[in-house]
Amino acid sequence: MAPQFTPRVFSGIQPSGGLTLGNYLGALKRFVEMQDSGMETIYCLVDLHAITDKWQEPERLRQQTREAAAAFMAAGIDPVRSILFNQSQVSAHAELAWIFNCVARLGWMNRMTQFKDKAGKNAENASLGLYAYPSLMAADILSYHATHVPVGEDQKQHLELTRDIAAKFNHDYGIEFFPMTEPVIEGVATRVMSLRDGTKKMSKSDPSDQSRINLSDDADTIAQKIRKARTDAEPLPEAMEGLKDRPEARNLVTIYAALAGTTPEAVLAEFAGQGFGSFKPRLADLAAATVGPITAEMTRLMADPAEIDRILGRGADRADAIARPILQKTYDIVGMIRSR
Ligand code: AMP
Ligand code: TRP
Repeated sequence: MAPQFTPRVFSGIQPSGGLTLGNYLGALKRFVEMQDSGMETIYCLVDLHAITDKWQEPERLRQQTREAAAAFMAAGIDPVRSILFNQSQVSAHAELAWIFNCVARLGWMNRMTQFKDKAGKNAENASLGLYAYPSLMAADILSYHATHVPVGEDQKQHLELTRDIAAKFNHDYGIEFFPMTEPVIEGVATRVMSLRDGTKKMSKSDPSDQSRINLSDDADTIAQKIRKARTDAEPLPEAMEGLKDRPEARNLVTIYAALAGTTPEAVLAEFAGQGFGSFKPRLADLAAATVGPITAEMTRLMADPAEIDRILGRGADRADAIARPILQKTYDIVGMIRSR
């Protein structure tokens, strides 16, 4: 009989820049809800992933990792109820990733759309780490035998690969050792789009700061970015159907709904017939009301970076206590001598 895996939540965010409203609505908000529901939750700042794409200035990377930790806590992650740590402090991730590099097939990796997007036209010049990124991500998750992984829509393919790796490992070694992890892609804003281009996702790595709302933006900056956000001249329609070919308009309505804790349909019921001249200021107020308290708390926490480092250290100790025995067992299954 297949073993039962106790429910355990794991997720990660790259500290490769400041967090955006997309990260908040697509991921962080869910992280907090899952923690508050009483599940065992493990959240990780994936600093090893952050260096796969481009060179990061070392001191800046360290600072961004602290800032991301502060954003997590400001958004409601409690480092006592959840385990909060940075990936590189728990070496099991990198070690298990190596085993998974030998399980995953080149053909699987070649299908990863995020690699293709990030590598762009010059794939020959992409790092080997960027190519192996999804294998490290599978190791992040499976180091804890995590059963549930809250993420935004863009991570769906990576989670399917995680299941493929787990299934092939279990099959190759004839043991039900790794669980089939479930993606949790929920909420109305699982894919928040750029404010400049409604067909591109809002991203911390977009060269234009106008394309995103950062969790560190103040109310004036948020209002200015929303005022300048690309839209069209049409009024808002009565139903979502009317937003089919209006990606920018649909994006703003979706963001509004997610912030207000309602549905896009309900937002349209309220604003149908009105233009963006009246909708945008309301959206700006709502965004500032959500982001403002998070920013203020982040600033407070960032005043004591040493305390953040201590919190991450304690989180890493707790994470290590779970991951280490799973890694040892994996080495044992694979046939590595463990005599020290
Ligand atoms: P990343 O910033 O790429 O490390 O993403 C961290 C988490 O935020 C992942 O779960 C992503 O799916 C989610 N995420 C990132 N950008 C967005 C977005 N624009 N809309 C919704 N979720 C997002
Ligand atoms: N790849 C994820 C992203 O960019 C970040 C990530 C790394 C992650 N490891 C993870 C997410 C494990 C969930 C679980 O969004």
